[in-house]
Amino acid sequence: MKNILITGGAGFIGSHVVRRLVTRYPEYHIINLDLLTYAGNLENLRDIEGANNYTFIKGDIADKEMVNKLFHLYDINTVIHLAAESHVDRSIDDPLAFARTNIMGTLNLLEVARDFWKGRTDVLFYHISTDEVYGSLGSEGFFTEKSPYQPNSPYSASKAGSDHFVRAYGETYGLPYITSNCSNNYGPNQFPEKLIPLMINNIISNKPLPVYGDGNYTRDWLYVIDHAEAIDLILHKAETGETYNIGGFNEWKNIDLVRLLCTLIDQRLNRAQGSSEKLITFVKDRPGHDKRYAIDASKIHKDLGWKPGVTFQQGLALTIDWYLSNKEWLEHVTSGEYREYYEKRYE
Ligand code: NAD
Ligand code: DAU
Repeated sequence: MKNILITGGAGFIGSHVVRRLVTRYPEYHIINLDLLTYAGNLENLRDIEGANNYTFIKGDIADKEMVNKLFHLYDINTVIHLAAESHVDRSIDDPLAFARTNIMGTLNLLEVARDFWKGRTDVLFYHISTDEVYGSLGSEGFFTEKSPYQPNSPYSASKAGSDHFVRAYGETYGLPYITSNCSNNYGPNQFPEKLIPLMINNIISNKPLPVYGDGNYTRDWLYVIDHAEAIDLILHKAETGETYNIGGFNEWKNIDLVRLLCTLIDQRLNRAQGSSEKLITFVKDRPGHDKRYAIDASKIHKDLGWKPGVTFQQGLALTIDWYLSNKEWLEHVTSGEYREYYEKRYE
């Protein structure tokens, strides 16, 4: 019997992981702990919120007393830790918030788990991290699990710090752990401050498309449901102490990707070809902008048989359709605090 504490389950990736585990494993109890910050949204989980094996708790991973109570109340034996401040631009504006949640919050969970599990080996702390901890690549090569950590943004430094603490708890206290480091995700429910949903949203509403610098920065894109599948496989099949890189073998320069989105949405909305491209606006670059990320995902393929299930064309079509059919969600999450934040940035 698994009693799984999923942190950050109301966010983008977390909601797909929660849905997958709740529906595929009715015998597990999934406890979703989420603070519902601007990035967390219970609308992401409406379809499963009534399931018998699902419990939602609103709370902060940095609140030790509350987390400790949860471990006792639900007899937690597995943690899948996704809760984080996740947006690089926000980390440049407010690094302390990132240290607080991503480092101190993770450390708090580790402390509670160490105390509650007391040396047990039939338990697991599964930490979800990012390829950004490895820094930036030149025009060649890939990040492997052996690449040195060279984080460049306050976000990636805070994620690297949390990865190191998880590893240290494994080495020092014998806490069973696994870490996976994934490339850029895209898909339904992603908060529209990130590149793909921001561009989709702005193309739909005929707003300027802010491309940072010259747009010649490269990211490796993975459909979020493929990431959730990889997490499920790692949870069930990986050895403790392992690290896995997860990626799409799918590199795109930002400017080419934005142009592709313009073309696809123009087609989808029967607009004249080329009309949305006119919205592209080159804006001031992100400080410390990492040039290129690319993941070598051969270890997870070889050990666990995982590979992405959808092509980029399929994933983008599904994503564009989702945003077009969920205008209310989009309107809801972009109103209030976010609208002010965005307007201050660009308008
Ligand atoms: P997200 O910003 O969409 O969601 C984060 C969730 O964490 C939100 O629901 C938020 O309410 C919650 N949260 C934030 N602070 C909290 C706190 N103190 N206590 C409890 N809950 C809190 O993030 P995402 O894009 O879904 O990323 C999830 C995880 O995956 C993060 O750890 C991120 O570093 C990692 N990751 C993301 C990507 C990506 O491309 N999005 C890629 C690799 C790894
Ligand atoms: O690589 C994994 C990481 O991917 C995750 O750990 C992070 O949580 C996630 O936010 C993402 O980080 P990036 O910084 O790569 O994602 P973002 O969507 O913010 O930006 C992608 C690229 O697009 C990057 O080169 C910056 C650029 N960009 C972004 C925005 C929001 C623009 O040119 N214009 C924009 O408006």
